[in-house]
Amino acid sequence: MIELKNVSKVFESGEKQVTAVQDVNLTVEKGDIYGVIGFSGAGKSTLLRCVNLLEKPTTGKVVVNGRDLTAISSTKLREARKKISMVFQHFNLLESKKVYDNIAFPLRLAGEDKPTIKNRVDQLLEFVGLSEQAEKYPDQLSGGQKQRVGIARALATSPDILLCDEATSALDPQTTASILELLKRINREYKITILIITHEMQVIRDVCQKVAVMENGKIIEQGSIFDVFSNPQTKTAQNFVSSVMNDRIPKSILHLLENDSRHIYRVTFVGDSTGYPLLSQVAKRFHVEVNVLHGQITELQDIPFGNLIIELQGKEDEIRRAQLYINQSVQLQEVLADAN
Ligand SMILES: Nc1ncnc2c1ncn2[C@@H]1O[C@H](COP(=O)(O)OP(=O)(O)O)[C@@H](O)[C@H]1O
Ligand SMILES: [Mg+2]
Repeated sequence: MIELKNVSKVFESGEKQVTAVQDVNLTVEKGDIYGVIGFSGAGKSTLLRCVNLLEKPTTGKVVVNGRDLTAISSTKLREARKKISMVFQHFNLLESKKVYDNIAFPLRLAGEDKPTIKNRVDQLLEFVGLSEQAEKYPDQLSGGQKQRVGIARALATSPDILLCDEATSALDPQTTASILELLKRINREYKITILIITHEMQVIRDVCQKVAVMENGKIIEQGSIFDVFSNPQTKTAQNFVSSVMNDRIPKSILHLLENDSRHIYRVTFVGDSTGYPLLSQVAKRFHVEVNVLHGQITELQDIPFGNLIIELQGKEDEIRRAQLYINQSVQLQEVLADAN
């Protein structure tokens, strides 16, 4: 659906050259909700703008629906862009126009007739839950309502692809959740492919199926949400994952490690194993006490995922046997003896 092939973007600002995007390869399949995460300045917005050629890549190809957008005429490009819509962090609404007219705007540009426009706008207002607000102006709306207008406007021309640039970054957590729900509904009901860029890992966790981590213009890691969240490879991905997974070991527990005689481990459970009472089995089979110090069980893409910090207490050899037993068990993904 969207294929970026060796895409780079270099900005010339005076004497200086800034490489905002560097040799990026990215494939977004039809129907995906794909997230790109990175810190501010990583090159995310530039990358997103390369997808619809708002930013022309310095090198590389942008293939959308099998068409190389870097190689077609400007007329053809305008045509192709109609199927790619954008949603912005600060909504970019026309302040002097009512909600209704903001949503009607792209349809008027496309030369649709009045009854068609009314039909479509009413339908979209209903879909985003703003039927009552049609006659209001943007400054009479909350942030969440403004973003719903932005989203309805983006959907007006029935796009195949929705590009979201930090669409929830200006919103409070509750409003963010409701906008993310709306994006999921759009993906499900209208079968629209969604590419989201954000610096908020919880957005990625809650709505995306796949993720790429971007740093200094490059994609340094990518994969399914489950793979990246359960086993992040790079330091940056690990930090992003930690920011939402509550898997950092609290200071009070790290403090316990100063005592060499304590045996503290990180245990990671995946899928069905989260429902299996492995730790109580261990306590029964061996002469050890299992003390859960910290952790949680959450869901990633509907798969249970548990991350626990435990302490084993008992004689050294019993602890070793218990450790071996846990390690052999299919339910266990990883035990880190130094708990760090
Ligand atoms: N039009 C531009 N001219 C010059 N430099 C730019 C331009 N747009 C972005 N940059 C630079 O490119 C880098 C990436 O920016 P951006 O894509 O906005 O990152 P992000 O969205 O991840 O915060 C930054 O260093 C930024 O200053
Ligand atoms: Mg940005």
